Amino acid sequence: MSTERLPVFLDVDTGVDDAMALVYLFGSPEAELVGIASTAGNVGVHQVCENNLGLLELCGITDVPVSKGSESPLTAPLRTAEDTHGPQGLGYARLPATSARLTDHDAAQAWIRAAHAHPGTLIGIATGPLTNLALALRAEPALPRLIRRLVIMGGAFDYRGNTTPVAEWNTSVDPESAAEVFAGWADAPSLPIVLGLNVTENIALTPELLSRLADAAGAPSAPMSVHDTRGTASAAGNALIRVLEDAMRFYFEFHHDQGEGYLAHLHDPLAAAVALDPELVACRAAPVDVELTGTLTRGMTIADWSGHWGREPNALIGVEVDPAAFFDRLIDRVGAFAQTLSRR
Ligand code: BDR
Ligand code: CA
Repeated sequence: MSTERLPVFLDVDTGVDDAMALVYLFGSPEAELVGIASTAGNVGVHQVCENNLGLLELCGITDVPVSKGSESPLTAPLRTAEDTHGPQGLGYARLPATSARLTDHDAAQAWIRAAHAHPGTLIGIATGPLTNLALALRAEPALPRLIRRLVIMGGAFDYRGNTTPVAEWNTSVDPESAAEVFAGWADAPSLPIVLGLNVTENIALTPELLSRLADAAGAPSAPMSVHDTRGTASAAGNALIRVLEDAMRFYFEFHHDQGEGYLAHLHDPLAAAVALDPELVACRAAPVDVELTGTLTRGMTIADWSGHWGREPNALIGVEVDPAAFFDRLIDRVGAFAQTLSRR
């Protein structure tokens, strides 16, 4: 049996759930993370870089290059989401200081270099606005033929938005980049897998599941409660679990304030898991496009299920997921990985 690992490139706007996606990849033995692109989104791009470098430091990983992306979307002014992810993007968590440096090249170049270094084998994952990927595509139009599989967390298909009534956050922040990426992938040998809110909002982390994760890491921690004082710090006996719990508590509080319950949607970790195992979601192929001009609908993702446009499908849209199977895998992998850290 081949022991070769899958080369994976991750583009993130870290972000509480982006952080969990990153840790999921660290805990996945079949994946070799070959680079991280930092995108402005949940917080500004400098903070996203800090968060990525800090997470690598926390996890004792020294060989994954981190690149800085564009400070703003292609044409729109940047919006950020500190209300959702906290002032620094990781809720109440604080990351260790690091002396690690960013790459000399930017995030768009990092996509291109990774694709050329692993032609036909690279797995790309984008869990933030698609600004860097669109810039990379402009500079290297062959990108869709070089990348083996692209998984995008973005959009909402036949489902309400989380940023406007119809638009999801990542697409809403930079709709032009999403439109360019969908158009650029139209002739790709393998269509991108697109996971919108219609599937990712099924992935609801609860205090009980988070407590199962702490148990799996060998650092038991009582389940958080909506009755706890806001911002109560984690007392788990594992540094990674403490960071994840402190980040997730903020995310739980945000979802609770939104009327969604004391839980957190793990949009981005689902994208990471599907990138390594597409069987985790059922998909349907369709032509997809992004509304760029609507005064009420800008940023909306539209799937033409019935062929009205007469276009070939350019995306595989996630339509069904088994949350229990996903959480079992997340808890196994992240728990075991966290446990290795406490032994170091
Ligand atoms: C997406 O928006 C961000 O806030 C999350 O990190 C996720 O990527 C969900 O709409
Ligand atoms: Ca994200």
